[in-house]
Amino acid sequence: MGLSSNHLLGLKGVPKEDIQLILDTATTFREVLERPIKKVPTLQGKTIVNLFYENSTRTRLSFELAQKRLSADTINFTKSGSSAAKGESFKDTVRNIEAMKVDMIVCRHESAGIPKYLTQISKAKIINAGDGRHEHPTQGLLDMYSIREKVGKLEGLNICIVGDISHSRVALSNIYGLQTMGANVSVCGPSTMIPWDMEKFGVKVYNNIDKAMAENDVLNVLRIQLERDAGVLIPSVREYHNYFGITQERIDKNNPNVLILHPGPINRGVEISSEVADGSSQIILNQVTNGVAIRMAVLYLLGTKSEE
Ligand code: CP
Repeated sequence: MGLSSNHLLGLKGVPKEDIQLILDTATTFREVLERPIKKVPTLQGKTIVNLFYENSTRTRLSFELAQKRLSADTINFTKSGSSAAKGESFKDTVRNIEAMKVDMIVCRHESAGIPKYLTQISKAKIINAGDGRHEHPTQGLLDMYSIREKVGKLEGLNICIVGDISHSRVALSNIYGLQTMGANVSVCGPSTMIPWDMEKFGVKVYNNIDKAMAENDVLNVLRIQLERDAGVLIPSVREYHNYFGITQERIDKNNPNVLILHPGPINRGVEISSEVADGSSQIILNQVTNGVAIRMAVLYLLGTKSEE
């Protein structure tokens, strides 16, 4: 059995069987990444475009590497340096790219909903690589994979997402995916950074990081997104660090066994101290390695799926 959808636009409504299949397939590709020759011929002959309208380091490089590891032909588009800078519309850009006969489009965009729009104007299979404040499904999947790899399970775990929830597509994908897999999900942050209707997602809300740390097995710590005006939601980054920053002192006091994740890029000294970012409680670079395996799994499962 394959995936139930031809595209990966988000984790909302994705069945447990699909998430399980992606995580299990990633385990196989994770093993390929440890081989001397880290390449398989699975997507030979397929052409994939990485359409990035917003900055990225981890997601863009990891998708490109995953495509190369699967022997696909890849082309990279970034907004700066393209004819979008001369005023070409998004739709015309996509039509021109599609005229080059691409099979799949991986898209990051600052506007929520653009990957869904792509499914309406393109025949290619679409993967959302992060759309505005909406979703970042492969980040959610690699976070789940990394937790499962470290702890051995997701079901029944208490997992808290910490920080700027209101601006975060990572938070939403984690909430949807983790709940589907049976985890107890909560969020923690200043009330200005948590949507007022958060409880409708079925998550517990903390405004005290010490309590959240003591009551959870895992903290997924989000970046304070100053480029999205998060600065107006807090008095200062120093104050944020004092009240919500993940420090070694807090871990030692509240929960020495807590597992720390961060999707990156990290703001050292803001949401996480350097000591923790480089310490033994975190798996931040494991997440990056696992990201390649997860993206290989998603590309493989969608790229080899016949249209229904
Ligand atoms: N985690 C993440 O999406 O990082 P990038 O913005 O560098 O891709």
